[in-house]
Amino acid sequence: MTKRTIFLTTALPYANGNFHIGHIMEYIQADIWVRHQRMCGNTVHFVGADDAHGAPIMISAQKLGVTPEEFIAKIQDGRKQYLDGFLIKFDNWHSTNSPENTELSQEIYKKLKKAGLIYTKDIEQFYDPVRQMFLADRFIKGTCPKCGAVDQYGDSCEKCGAVYQPTELINPYSALSGSKLELRTSEHYFFKLSDPSCVQFLREWTKGTAKDGTKRLQAQITAKTEEWLGKDGDLADWDISRDGPYFGIEIPDAPGKYFYVWLDAPIGYLATLKSYCQKEGIDFQALLESPDTEQIHFIGKDIVYFHTLFWPAMLHFAGQPFRTPEHVWAHGFVTVDGAKMSKSRGTGLNPLVYLDLNMDPEWLRYYIAFKLNSKVEDVDFNRNDFIARINSDLIGKYINIGSRCAGFLVKRFDGKVDTSAIASSALIADIKQAAPSILESYETREYSRALRKVMELADQTNEFVDQNKPWELAKKEDKQDDLFRVCSITMEAFRLLSLYLKPVLPRTASAVEELLGCGELTWETIENSLNESTVLKPFKHLMQRATEDQLVKLFELSNPNNTQTPKTEEAPVSSQEEIEFEEIAPTISFDEFTKVDLRIGRIVKCTKVEKSKKLLQLSVDLGEGRLRNIFSGIAMYYKPEDLEGKLTVVVANLAPRKMTFGVSEGMLLSASDASDKPAGLYILEPVEGAKPGMRLH
Ligand code: MSP
Ligand code: ZN
Repeated sequence: MTKRTIFLTTALPYANGNFHIGHIMEYIQADIWVRHQRMCGNTVHFVGADDAHGAPIMISAQKLGVTPEEFIAKIQDGRKQYLDGFLIKFDNWHSTNSPENTELSQEIYKKLKKAGLIYTKDIEQFYDPVRQMFLADRFIKGTCPKCGAVDQYGDSCEKCGAVYQPTELINPYSALSGSKLELRTSEHYFFKLSDPSCVQFLREWTKGTAKDGTKRLQAQITAKTEEWLGKDGDLADWDISRDGPYFGIEIPDAPGKYFYVWLDAPIGYLATLKSYCQKEGIDFQALLESPDTEQIHFIGKDIVYFHTLFWPAMLHFAGQPFRTPEHVWAHGFVTVDGAKMSKSRGTGLNPLVYLDLNMDPEWLRYYIAFKLNSKVEDVDFNRNDFIARINSDLIGKYINIGSRCAGFLVKRFDGKVDTSAIASSALIADIKQAAPSILESYETREYSRALRKVMELADQTNEFVDQNKPWELAKKEDKQDDLFRVCSITMEAFRLLSLYLKPVLPRTASAVEELLGCGELTWETIENSLNESTVLKPFKHLMQRATEDQLVKLFELSNPNNTQTPKTEEAPVSSQEEIEFEEIAPTISFDEFTKVDLRIGRIVKCTKVEKSKKLLQLSVDLGEGRLRNIFSGIAMYYKPEDLEGKLTVVVANLAPRKMTFGVSEGMLLSASDASDKPAGLYILEPVEGAKPGMRLH
């Protein structure tokens, strides 16, 4: 088969925070695939970079009194310890704030302009006269035009879930300076996604087949793009410019205008490839242009729109030497013990704490791989499940095999093996026969399936050992041939299992290569075997068991509310221990307080609201003999099924409110801090004994 050349990326993480477990999972998924490809003999250029531009990064730097460049440099310095720590082998790590990216972004923009897909339009936006800048929605606050809740964000109300334009807010003010906002007009640049040629191209591209013969996008993703492209393909044009001051790349011939961060971010994929090519002496242009190069992106489910509509359209209409991706593969999100985490800050499980505790990176790689498939499904990290998977599968089934038999061969047979026994073994034949399906599973990112199969084979091998009882054979003078035979077969089985696990457990596999003296394990070496020249080395301990104590510590030290902080020094991001404290509201009289009727309610039913990211619809029993219909903007924080049956607190005498999806007859209370996008939002649950209908006094 001809060898492939693959240009592979993971999403470029924002440079405003350290990696969290979600990032690490994405890198592990991609790294396993890369290692599998390399074991096939294919060439992979696996590159990453920081996504360094945009208003939030600029503002975070300002808060710390450093330049954005200093800020992102510090974050970038912190990347290596995570990547090395989890055995994630990028060929290059770059930044979107780089000369390569500036050049490529301006080149692509100019080509799109030439293609007639860029136009300008005046738009009205809020301007902060104190900061002297236009504000992104997340930095605008005001009173909700629908429910009157104060201090709501520019795009939606956390209290009632209403979605609106920032210009609809009552008394809008700047979350940065606190000052009143002015509406000002400014000229913006747009990419004409609505152009019929663009829509036509995307319709075909999203449904297309890649060079490897499989669909370009996963079925769930095509379903999404179909929905976005709609019947009439009425895609909205894309606002690609921002007014200065902005930390970004200047738009050519447009003084004071910058590319919106999401324009130059994906171009960063090409920038990091270019910087890598320069370092390695590879011809970037030729590599990019070659019809044999496969460009593939691993991303999370939240950034599919950018990668399946904007990005391919940009590349396609920019033309030579740019090519559209072969694949964009999306994965689900990591949850920790069932809880969602904040996208930017992460919670629950700090990867650096994990490494600091000397927990084995291969445990996490194995655990994540065991849960991953090719679908866009969330992956839950559950601590009990984790311990069980590691100790019973990895140690109990796999590692155990090597340690059971190697010693006999080393001590009694000078480390040699019985080659004819291996050649005629039914067990070995079975294990080899599984190779095509295991390879196929890695290829199609069905890691879970691959590992289940390997564990089945490990079970089969352990049964073989249990039946033949080498420890008993060892005691009998006349059974030495049998001992030699059984142990040789077992060690060859161990070689094959190590080979199958190598994409996931690269460190263990290389230790096994060393102990078996079998040379580098690649997919081609499945057909090889331990042989006449084999001399096994004395076996050392390959992997420790995971302990409950480690997991307890991991969660204690990662937990934001814990007073202990991780030992490792972290880059200067907002500390996870602190909440952003909201000022206490002005004093009210007791009479004013009693106007609010707060009741205990039981959430009888809870469902997602189609077409709304924020809203859940609840049926709540307030003891009135009927159920109240309540909409609450907590969908980002709770799964509907987790709330059913719970008691909580409801504002019972709030005037009913008509919303797009129906009438809301009450309001759920929830707690959060004052930050833009709170990391957590918590509904209230009474201490045991409270009953639906009880009033709060
Ligand atoms: N900067 C953009 C991507 C630009 S790509 C040209 C971005 N950055 S991010 O840091 O927020 O996310 C980086 C990647 O991590 C994304 O693919 C995102 O989906 C993924 N994840 C963020 N949180 C995650 C989980 N909780 N679980 C799994 N992946 C998650 O988006
Ligand atoms: Zn509201």
